[in-house]
Amino acid sequence: MSKMFSDFIERFKNQIPKVNTVKNLEVGKNTLVVFVDGENFKTEVADVCKAHGGVVTKAIEAKPFEGKNGEILSIFPANLNGGNFSRILVVSLGKLSELNAQKDKYWKLSLQNLGGKISGLLNGAKVDEVSLHFTFNHQKLSCIINQITYGIVLKNYRFDKFFVKKAEGKAPCLKNIHVSSVHEAVELGAKLNKYGHIAENMYLIRELVNMPPADLNPEYYADLINSAFEHGILSDLFSREHVTVNTLDEDEMRSLNMNGVLAVGAGSSKASRVVVIEYKGDPSREGFDVAFVGKGVCFDSGGLSIKPAQSMEDMKCDMGGSALMFATIRLLAQQKEKINVVATLGIVENAVDANSYRPGDIITTMSGQTIEVLNTDAEGRIVLADCLYYTQKIYKPKFMIDAATLTGAITVALGDVYAGLFSTDDEITGLIEESALKASEKLWAFPMEKEFDDMIDSTVADVKNIGSGRGAGSITAAQFLGRFVNCDEDTPKTKWAHLDIAGVAFLGKSGTPTSDKGATGWGLMTMYKFARMVGKK
Ligand code: BES
Ligand code: MN
Ligand code: ZN
Repeated sequence: MSKMFSDFIERFKNQIPKVNTVKNLEVGKNTLVVFVDGENFKTEVADVCKAHGGVVTKAIEAKPFEGKNGEILSIFPANLNGGNFSRILVVSLGKLSELNAQKDKYWKLSLQNLGGKISGLLNGAKVDEVSLHFTFNHQKLSCIINQITYGIVLKNYRFDKFFVKKAEGKAPCLKNIHVSSVHEAVELGAKLNKYGHIAENMYLIRELVNMPPADLNPEYYADLINSAFEHGILSDLFSREHVTVNTLDEDEMRSLNMNGVLAVGAGSSKASRVVVIEYKGDPSREGFDVAFVGKGVCFDSGGLSIKPAQSMEDMKCDMGGSALMFATIRLLAQQKEKINVVATLGIVENAVDANSYRPGDIITTMSGQTIEVLNTDAEGRIVLADCLYYTQKIYKPKFMIDAATLTGAITVALGDVYAGLFSTDDEITGLIEESALKASEKLWAFPMEKEFDDMIDSTVADVKNIGSGRGAGSITAAQFLGRFVNCDEDTPKTKWAHLDIAGVAFLGKSGTPTSDKGATGWGLMTMYKFARMVGKK
């Protein structure tokens, strides 16, 4: 990593709390959070209590604490005569005998959300050091500890880079988390390093997406990605040998006939870039198992089919798909996963200018297929058409996934709760659904069929960039992308899926329990788990 990138991540790296495991609870000096089973909390609490003058037991008796799921009791031991901690929170996880992964598909998400809520409380109380203490035993103990801790870590990110006078009370103070458990949770220690990497890349996605579009313009963004992989990513030799970045400039795109990318970027004062990151985690094998493709529209004004003011407000988020894929491949490399992955990022700005591409223009793409442009605001699919085609042709991947903030229509269907999944291949659909479930990231599969595909037939070119009629906007966008996958006779077939993350990548109005308003980092865990799963096959 070179200075440009290390400077960029320095700001938010400071916000990632350090997590360590401790044998002895006494290490915590500041605040203690005791996690209890809703069924046995009285005996569990009594055990913790011995060393602290019985304050917790007294508090539980003084206030009604029933042990309901998510119930939190706050104690200031000073008022209660004794104890080493200045503040104690007792948090019930409900009846753990009823914790049932079959019944509640998203039980891990509930634990992360609880962690996020606790993070909010701790930061609100200006706590910089906390001890998390788990009193119960459970089959899934280490997983429970991981999810809660991860939730706390996730919620600690703030995009406060541009406050001149740091708004009081906004900066996160939580710096150190000590985790202890009455019963052994051996796995946690080994996972901490990995969780550090995951958190860093989650924060990285958020920072990139939250950056103002004048700062994170296509040229700067492409340079930043390059600088992330220069001289090895962890300043060790492994990564330097295994990650290669190839950046296509506009001349190279012209000679490759990537006229889709060029057309969308034509109105911008910044040059477009296609950045290709190759990670060979298993160099003994030829070829690439997985290809990721990301939409990297640094700002989407709509172009000449200009967006109304309100719809343009959040359009710095339109490079979210590329940020997701960049962070995923970086995480895979940091974790030295034994898999060969390539990520192609189409990086442009959709701007208004005399040189902008126009409705009515017909573009000949790299695939040879022509696109009739009817709306310059349906630009992401045009960029991706070339990126998907290029990636399949050059790398012949077994699996290919693209992620894009592609359509407003996806939020009509799924709000900001679920991402949309589009594919005609059952194997990749199954693998992605399984990964997303394990990752606790919500995703919903849509149909792709001929009736929808017919809606993008053009009368003057091979395909038009918006559907006829009003309906199925997210599906017709996916069908459009599908026209540029497996379209070459002599290129081996790939199993492809498309993720529409326009709803989930960026929260314009209010945050979630684990993420503030703004970028979320959605998808990192799903993509990471997907790649690992494919690597093990
Ligand atoms: N970048 C937008 C989609 C988007 C909308 C992302 C809201 C994040 C939040 C995309 O390029 C776009 O403008 N899509 C159009 C397509 C239409 C012109 C067919 C849309 O959704 O309105
Ligand atoms: Mn657009
Ligand atoms: Zn867009």
